[in-house]
Amino acid sequence: MSILIKNGRVITATDDYTADIFIEGEKVSLIGNNLDVKADEVIDAKGKLVMPGGIDPHVHLEMPFMGTFSTDNYETGTLAALHGGTTTVIDFIIQKQGESLKAAYDEWTGRANGNAYGDYAFHMAVTDFNEDTKKEIGYFINELGISSFKTFMAYKGALMIDDKQMIGLMHEVKKHGGIVTSHATNGDIIDYLVAKHKAEGKLSLLYHYLSQPEETESEATGRFTDMAYNTGVPSYIVHMSCEGSLNALRRSQLRHQKVYAETCVQYLLLDASLYEKNFEGAKWVMSPPLREKKDQKALWGGINQGSVQTIATDHCPFHWEQKLNGKDDFSKIPNGAPGIENRMELMFSEGVQTGKISLNKYVEITSTNSAKIFGMFPRKGTISIGSDADIIIFDPNEEHTISAKNHHMNVDYSAYEGWEVKGKCKQTILRGKLVIDNGKVKAEKGYGKFIKRDKFKNI
Ligand code: URP
Ligand code: ZN
Ligand code: ZN
Repeated sequence: MSILIKNGRVITATDDYTADIFIEGEKVSLIGNNLDVKADEVIDAKGKLVMPGGIDPHVHLEMPFMGTFSTDNYETGTLAALHGGTTTVIDFIIQKQGESLKAAYDEWTGRANGNAYGDYAFHMAVTDFNEDTKKEIGYFINELGISSFKTFMAYKGALMIDDKQMIGLMHEVKKHGGIVTSHATNGDIIDYLVAKHKAEGKLSLLYHYLSQPEETESEATGRFTDMAYNTGVPSYIVHMSCEGSLNALRRSQLRHQKVYAETCVQYLLLDASLYEKNFEGAKWVMSPPLREKKDQKALWGGINQGSVQTIATDHCPFHWEQKLNGKDDFSKIPNGAPGIENRMELMFSEGVQTGKISLNKYVEITSTNSAKIFGMFPRKGTISIGSDADIIIFDPNEEHTISAKNHHMNVDYSAYEGWEVKGKCKQTILRGKLVIDNGKVKAEKGYGKFIKRDKFKNI
C-alpha cells in the first residue's frame, strides 16, 4: 500500500515548507517537490497543513479508579483520538499495592490487546516500591519497552508512595536508563483539608478545589525535582496546573537538571470559576483542580519559554451518572474529565490561531517532545524519511463547534461543550494507513499497535 500526499504545507517542530510526501508501507519514503511516483492513493493537501500525528502522553483508558472505571476503553478512546488527530497515546498501567508490576501489566495488556484503533504505549505506575518490585524495573525497561515510571505523591492508601520509596525507585530507574514521572501534589495536606472540610459539613464541590490549594502542588513539585536531582534520574511532572509549580520547576531547570513538564489543555483554557456553578461543576472535578487565570498565563509562558515541553489531556472520562456519586460529598466525585479527541484542535485554535504559540511550537508540544522524552523519536513525533507515517492533514480554516452530540468519546458530556474552534483534522494516517478520512473510519479495531519504547536519551 502506498500513499502520495501532494502540495501540502509540511510543518514539523523545526520546518515549514511545501512538498509532496510519499508513503510506502508504514513509513515515509520520499519527501520532495513534484514527486513523480505511482501511488495506490493520492491525497491533495493544497491549502492544508501536513503535520506529525499527535501524541497524547497522558490518558487513562478503562482505568479502575475511585470505585468505578473511566468510560473510554482502548477501542473507543483510541478511535476518538484518531478523529481528533492523535495517533499515539500513552496510558498508565497501575500496580495494585501488595501485588507485582507484572500482574498489573498482564491486566492492562489483557484489556488493550487487539482492541485499539490507534497506537499506544504504557507508563508503569509504581504504587508500592519494595524489594520485589525493585527487581522488576530492569525487566520493564529492557524487555517490555516500558521505560517511564509514574509515581503518585497523593491518593494515600491506594496509589501514593512515600519519599523513601520514591528515592529507591529513582535509583533503580536511573540504573536501567528510564525516567520517573510524578503526579506531584502533597497527598497528606490534601487529605487533611478534605477531612477538615467534611468535618465542618463543607461538602459542595467547591471544596474539592479548596482542598488542593496551589501550595500543595508547588511544594510537591519542588520535593519531587529535588529528589530527582539528588538521585540524578531524568524526571517529568505530569499535569502541571499552576504558576507555583512552574516556578519550582524553573528553579530545578536552572541547575541544569534533566526535568521536564507536561500541562493539559484544561489548565490552559478553563479555570476554577466553573466550580462556582452548581453541581454541574462536577464535570471538571479533577486533580489537580482547575486553577486561576494567572496560572493559565504562566503556563502559556512556560510553554513558550521551553520549561513546559508537552501538552496532554489526562483523559479520564466518567459519565454523568458516575459523577452523581459525589452529589452530596465532593470527595466521592470520580476525578477526571474527557478531552482525548479535542486536544489537537483546541490547541491549534486557542494556541496558534490566537498567536500564543507558533506552528512549530504547536507540533513540538503536541507530538515531537513526547516522542523524544518517552523514547519514540524519530520513529514517531516528526515527518522524515524512515519515520512511521503518522500524519495528519489539517484544515486551518474550517470552523466547527465542539459538542457531546457529535464527539466520538464514550462519555455523555463534553468538557468544552459549545466551544467554537477554527481548525479541523480532515485526514489521519497511522503507519501508512488512512484511518480517518473526513470523519469516516477506514481502519479496523486491532490496527493500533503497542509501541515498545527506547530508554531515555538526551533530548
Ligand atoms: O483527576 C484526574 N487527574 N484523574 C485521573 C488520575 C490522575 O490523577 O491523573
Ligand atoms: Zn494525576
Ligand atoms: Zn492522570
